[in-house]
Amino acid sequence: MRHHGTSAGKPLSAPAAAARHAELVRQILHHDYRYYVLDDPEISDAEYDALFRELLDLEKLFPHLAGPDSPSQRIGGAPREGMATVQREVPMLSLENAFAEPEIVEFDQRVRRFLQLQGPITYVVEPKLDGLAVELVYQDGVLTLGATRGDGVTGEDVTANIRTIPSIPLRLSEPLAGEARIRGEVILPLADFHRLNQQRLAAGEPLFANPRNAAAGSLRQLDPKITRQRPLDFYAHGVADPAALGVASHYDLLQRLHRLGCKIPPFTLRCSGVDEVLAAYQRLLEQRQRLPIEIDGMVVKVDDLGLQDRLGAKARSPRWAIAYKFPATQATTRLIDVHFSVGRTGAVTPVAILEPVLLAGVTVRRATLHNEDEIRRKDLRLGDTVLVQRAGDVIPEVVKPVPERRTGNERPIVFPDRCPECRHPLHRPAGEKVHRCPNAACPAQRLQSIIHFCGKAGFDIEGLGKKAVEQLVAAGLISDIPDIFRLDFQRLAQLPGWGEKSAANLQRAIERAKTATLGRLLAALGIRFVGEVTAQLLEQHFATIDELMAATEEQLQAIEGIGPQTAASVTAFFADPLNRQLIDDLLTSGLRIAPSSARVNAGERPLAGKVFVFTGRLERFGRDEAKELVKRLGGAVASTVGKRVTHVVAGAKAGSKLAKARQLGIEVLDEEAFQRLLTQREDGAPSPAAPRPAVLPFSEGET
Ligand code: IVH
Repeated sequence: MRHHGTSAGKPLSAPAAAARHAELVRQILHHDYRYYVLDDPEISDAEYDALFRELLDLEKLFPHLAGPDSPSQRIGGAPREGMATVQREVPMLSLENAFAEPEIVEFDQRVRRFLQLQGPITYVVEPKLDGLAVELVYQDGVLTLGATRGDGVTGEDVTANIRTIPSIPLRLSEPLAGEARIRGEVILPLADFHRLNQQRLAAGEPLFANPRNAAAGSLRQLDPKITRQRPLDFYAHGVADPAALGVASHYDLLQRLHRLGCKIPPFTLRCSGVDEVLAAYQRLLEQRQRLPIEIDGMVVKVDDLGLQDRLGAKARSPRWAIAYKFPATQATTRLIDVHFSVGRTGAVTPVAILEPVLLAGVTVRRATLHNEDEIRRKDLRLGDTVLVQRAGDVIPEVVKPVPERRTGNERPIVFPDRCPECRHPLHRPAGEKVHRCPNAACPAQRLQSIIHFCGKAGFDIEGLGKKAVEQLVAAGLISDIPDIFRLDFQRLAQLPGWGEKSAANLQRAIERAKTATLGRLLAALGIRFVGEVTAQLLEQHFATIDELMAATEEQLQAIEGIGPQTAASVTAFFADPLNRQLIDDLLTSGLRIAPSSARVNAGERPLAGKVFVFTGRLERFGRDEAKELVKRLGGAVASTVGKRVTHVVAGAKAGSKLAKARQLGIEVLDEEAFQRLLTQREDGAPSPAAPRPAVLPFSEGET
């Protein structure tokens, strides 16, 4: 391990202090780079902190040593009075937008026509990061200025704030004489954006509409200390004068920027010809929802810098690049009506009925309104023009009304006081946001329970999706869950849309479902707070359903991962005679509970005997999810590193646990290696349950 004495001992001479200071700066910047850019730290947090403390001590004694590239400058100076502006000679251009394939095909034709080239052009495609464009000016490798794009020519000087962003190099990793102007995006990762908004909600402050606004609001602060508290990140995607870096292509430029110490956009690919560009767009679009950062499209750039030069620029945008935008995820439409739907637990959810609107390629007619408080908070009214949003595969939601479009004819939304299905008075438990129908015999709840039981999270019976269940219930073939296992297939074959063949198929599917694990049954029952993971956990601890039904709240709570709420919910469920009857009926109508693999089948437990400790921030897994996966595969999880521990999984910012593991000679895995371990079965085949990595490595495009 590197030596790092402290300045607390004997006083240093000025030249010795300068030498030590230079060495500390070099080391700290190197470790910043390892940690924030490469996500691959070499030393523990404690060791890093010691270096930093020594640096600050030294600068207190010798203030002249605190130059612009000292890591101490990341702490953020005093707030300023106002924002200074900067003028740039090479303006930061904008991009032309394309929204559909033909526009990209046309762009490619335009490029080839302009260059009078027949063959395919090599392009580089990058995600279009939804952030704030900035330019970083380096003099002889040292960061001297950071400014926003502004109107392209005039930007705002945000140098002090820029310095607080840990992935921005204060000094470039390779020597670079003269001036370099690195351009890129300052972004706020999605998770941090959501966290920030939650904090603001709790503090009664206005919310940021999107990560871009949050990044801009965080960077354009007069007080850099505020910026420092926001986990901003920076990705470089160009320079003002690429030729000065001695590279011939944009792809090489990005690699050079990476070597200089900058992060470059993930998913960056080299494409030969327009067809590869179009294919890359489809892939990026699919990945979009899984990325930890918000992207709103793909940027297509001519790779060859010589060709870029020849193409040049129009007034505001270069001819060698275009932004291929993703379909919009927000749109405005009219709120026609509000329906109140009753879920399987009796929860009543208001659903917005909308004038149909095209959103991210899908026609949206309904959106969730969450609950009554949300309706009040947003001040929504019937007839309002509303902003709707569809984020990924999640249900569309109404973001807010557009009050400017009100005509005065809008009407208030009245929340019902009786169940819209069974007319039973609704109940809103104290402290909860949700109205519930307490009638267990409510037909809406029954229907939803059956749908859940047959669905993906439950028994996953092929052929018994939502529509089919609704049809069977309406036709009187089933009225509760056990009826599924007593279904009259002859009558089923007579129903519209069914026939001998499809009825026989369903019969087979139901026959297969009759043998289930305890975990699956528990998940299918839809007990509150018992999702798939908790169901697995219970399965690991109880051999039979009878054992579980007899368990007390205390026994349940003793299981790691089961809290008081869940324990109470499980015992309440099994205390209810109706539910005990349900289990009885299921068993008498042919359901068999198979011995669970987690308890019995040693062959299915590849991690048996292994003990894992997790440290640092995991990117690909939630911490709980990772632990759960280990347990499901028969392994155990410990919270401290000791002799029993066999594997330490180290994420970003791993600290003392990692150091301890190395000291004890325990196997250390990064996330990728951990993932490989999980997905590799004994026979070497990848398991189908393997989570996929969120981000492709940069090198994917290199062939
Ligand atoms: S290149 C001359 N690459 O999009 C080329 N821009 O709509 C100019 N942006 O102002 C930019 N991701 O702030 C480029 N990978 C990327 C980008 C990107 C986001 C932003 C940039 C620019 C805006 C234009």
